[in-house]
Amino acid sequence: MDKKEIIDKQKKYLFSCVATYYDEPLVVDHAKDQYVYDTDGKEFLDFFGGILTVSVGHCNEKVTKAIDEQTHKVQHMSTLYANEPQVLLAEKLAQITPGRLEKSFFTNSGTEANETAVLLAQIHTKCQDVITLRHSYSGRSYLALSLSAQSSWRLMPNVVPGVHHIANAYCYRCPFGLTYPSCDLKCAKDAEEAIQTMTSQGRVAAFLAEPIQGVGGFIVPPKEYFKEIVGIIRKYGGLFICDEVQTAWGRTGGKMFGIEHWGVDPDIMTFAKGMANGVPIGATIATPEVADSMKGNTISTFGGNPVTCTAAHATIQVIEEENLVENARVLGNRLRDGLNALKDKYPIIGDVRGMGLMQGMELVGEQKKPDIENTKRVMELTRKHGLLVGKGGTYGNVLRVAPPLFGSVLWSVGSVKTLLGYH
Ligand SMILES: Cc1ncc(COP(=O)(O)O)c(C=O)c1O
Repeated sequence: MDKKEIIDKQKKYLFSCVATYYDEPLVVDHAKDQYVYDTDGKEFLDFFGGILTVSVGHCNEKVTKAIDEQTHKVQHMSTLYANEPQVLLAEKLAQITPGRLEKSFFTNSGTEANETAVLLAQIHTKCQDVITLRHSYSGRSYLALSLSAQSSWRLMPNVVPGVHHIANAYCYRCPFGLTYPSCDLKCAKDAEEAIQTMTSQGRVAAFLAEPIQGVGGFIVPPKEYFKEIVGIIRKYGGLFICDEVQTAWGRTGGKMFGIEHWGVDPDIMTFAKGMANGVPIGATIATPEVADSMKGNTISTFGGNPVTCTAAHATIQVIEEENLVENARVLGNRLRDGLNALKDKYPIIGDVRGMGLMQGMELVGEQKKPDIENTKRVMELTRKHGLLVGKGGTYGNVLRVAPPLFGSVLWSVGSVKTLLGYH
């Protein structure tokens, strides 16, 4: 099929809500390492990796080989039968995740991972109320849509009761009009009044948060934030569910998991995206006593699938063997320097933020007004010049830069220069 046929069939046969970037959708033909090729043969440097997912490169040789071998051994049996790849992956997660996280449940997406986490917290605490943050994104199921706090992604009125959204730590647009550090972390401290006023009987099942809000536009809370807010949640009997769907696997540089930068151990963690370098997987890991409180029958037909678990194990092995967590820190610093230099030069860049190879630029006009039109323009121009970056933020005015974790500093610098060339 040529490009036009694919776009025509997409319009005819897919739900019209399947959103694509760019005025004309980019039709991908194939990809290798950091490069993506469209159906016209044009090469793109991929600085978004299918939304922070292809972290060790497209069609990574080691991951592909492991998948291929497992595919020829056994592809599927369901969780009704034990298999080696599933327990090997679960053991690996128990070894590398922080604190006492030990038991895992595998699914197929971040949405399901978060569903599992919230259900587990509610069962464990015998409480329904969940506190989460404005500008968060948790997925597209009924519950996950209710947990998400960006109106454009919420397709229905708030349907699941007991979900409360409090102000996030969005320092560039402080919801309380304050400035860090003189704000004294008002946003975190506000959780106490939220619990006292919005929950039933002043109890809470969980606080669900991303270390860095991804879809929200790479919003990074201050370094004391999680200790403060998780302390309050625990005081009222709640668990901390850390959504690492975007921030895990070295993405934030220097640490395998995003929350490790804040020195707080979650009770439950969720993963998806980069975990298997693009093979669909979701995982929820919890401390043993929390995990074991989910009794009775539960099943995920594809969860713990031997092929996807093998892909995840191989991806984690590549990240460890090739020292990509440290590489993301070094490259991330270099990239950040380049983006800061752009900010000094162009007033349209209101804020540069992120960690490691997860860097965002918020584009604004007068008085920080979100510049949606120019964000779209930069997206089109980067595409034209062969660079793929992402867009995000509640107001659609944040450029998201998230290249694969490997590579040399040199191509990072080269890419920043490419970005510079668009202005
Ligand atoms: C932080 C976060 N949690 C959960 C999800 C949902 O994951 P999925 O799209 O795999 O269901 C996403 C997706 O973007 C995400 O960014």
